[in-house]
Amino acid sequence: MPALINPSILSADFANLERDLGAIATADYAHVDVMDNHFVPNLTLGLPVFERLAQVSPVPLDAHLMIDDPDRWAPQYAEAGAASVTFHAEAAAAPVRLARELRRLGARAGVALRPATPVEPFLDLLAEVDMILVMTVEPGFGGQSFIDGTLPKIRRARQAVSAAGLDVWIQVDGGVSRQTIERAAEAGADVFVAGSAVYGAESVPEEIATLRGLASRHTH
Ligand code: DX5
Ligand code: ZN
Repeated sequence: MPALINPSILSADFANLERDLGAIATADYAHVDVMDNHFVPNLTLGLPVFERLAQVSPVPLDAHLMIDDPDRWAPQYAEAGAASVTFHAEAAAAPVRLARELRRLGARAGVALRPATPVEPFLDLLAEVDMILVMTVEPGFGGQSFIDGTLPKIRRARQAVSAAGLDVWIQVDGGVSRQTIERAAEAGADVFVAGSAVYGAESVPEEIATLRGLASRHTH
């Protein structure tokens, strides 16, 4: 699969979200970080804003829910038009039931792991999800530096997906840039979230193309 580039609008101008979604029309998905000030110490946006973003975005939305009680809230993001909904393993009470519900609603289902959360408990449940998000920083803020210690987890996830013969995507999020994307791709990631690297670039479309090119050297 070719590398997918999902810019994070956490680094966009929150007073100009429609304009800044337009700027990433050549991306694969727009990554939308939903934070509730409980699961992470930051607050971004919720369902009413997300619904409008889904209506105006030129690319499908990839919702990353950094919230408590995703069992209750995540399905509403699927109903609001998310193409993909990722909830955190640490916050979900019944991850398999939730993933099945998201799929029933027509969304791809993703499960996210903080840097210190092991992937092993999910390796027998890979058939239940469409994506594993390996956080490469502690969730909560953009602009942090990539944690190399997460690379072995990406590798183990990729080996398990290949061994099972499944088409589960492996996403990385946090500190992804020209400097780090190849390491993540080489370890087995195929979906790349980048916030500050994309929106901080002189040319957003050129940065998306450059990141895609670098990652694609290592993906298949
Ligand atoms: C962090 C968010 C990320 C964030 C990444 O908790 O989940 O999506 O926007 O930002 P960068 O690419 O700047 O590290
Ligand atoms: Zn994110």
